[in-house]
Amino acid sequence: PAHYYDDLKCVLLPKGLILDRVQRLAEDICHDISSPLVALCVLKGGYQFFTDLLDCIKNHNATSEKSFQMQVDFIKVKSYMNDQSTGVVNIMGSDNLASLKGKSILIVEDIIDTGNTMVKLLETIKKFEPKQVMVASLLLKRTKRSNGYRPNYTGFEIPDAFVVGYALDYNEYFRDLNHVCIINERGKKRYAANT
Ligand code: PRP
Ligand code: MN
Ligand code: MG
Repeated sequence: PAHYYDDLKCVLLPKGLILDRVQRLAEDICHDISSPLVALCVLKGGYQFFTDLLDCIKNHNATSEKSFQMQVDFIKVKSYMNDQSTGVVNIMGSDNLASLKGKSILIVEDIIDTGNTMVKLLETIKKFEPKQVMVASLLLKRTKRSNGYRPNYTGFEIPDAFVVGYALDYNEYFRDLNHVCIINERGKKRYAANT
């Protein structure tokens, strides 16, 4: 949208490119996955990747001989203020995490940056004794701040810049951008949280 143009440095990943990659990720995932599957969306940042990935998985499932059962669930996890991890990962529950027991879980996340969110979330999920847990992240940031965690499925590895769009936010702004973009200093200032 035009009101964001002055706040962005550049487009990093156009939506069309993302959708092509998501299609291929879905094929890899469908090839590997065992039934019954619970696709778990990590809100809020994961919602756009989740809907696009699930569309592809559904289409694959509809046309494949080897189809599988799939349920969906949502969990809300938050740790960022401005462009910094607060270090405190706040996890707010799904409807019923106990129902994950014995099932294959596919956690769907937008980005692994420091890796702190995913390490904490995996600890939480594993307490509920799923059969298998896989993680698909659209983005994996190459950064010195990484704790070394790497997801099972990665869409794109990206450089160490703060990215927004395709549901990724800066203080809740920019989620409504189609493309993944790099925010500029003006944007960071303009939408800075009043702390
Ligand atoms: C962001 C992003 C990931 C996480 C990655 O979530 O969506 O969930 O941080 O960062 P990390 O690897 O350094 O932990 P955020 O806390 O901004 O919440 P949101 O998804 O609601 O935007
Ligand atoms: Mn998130
Ligand atoms: Mg965020």
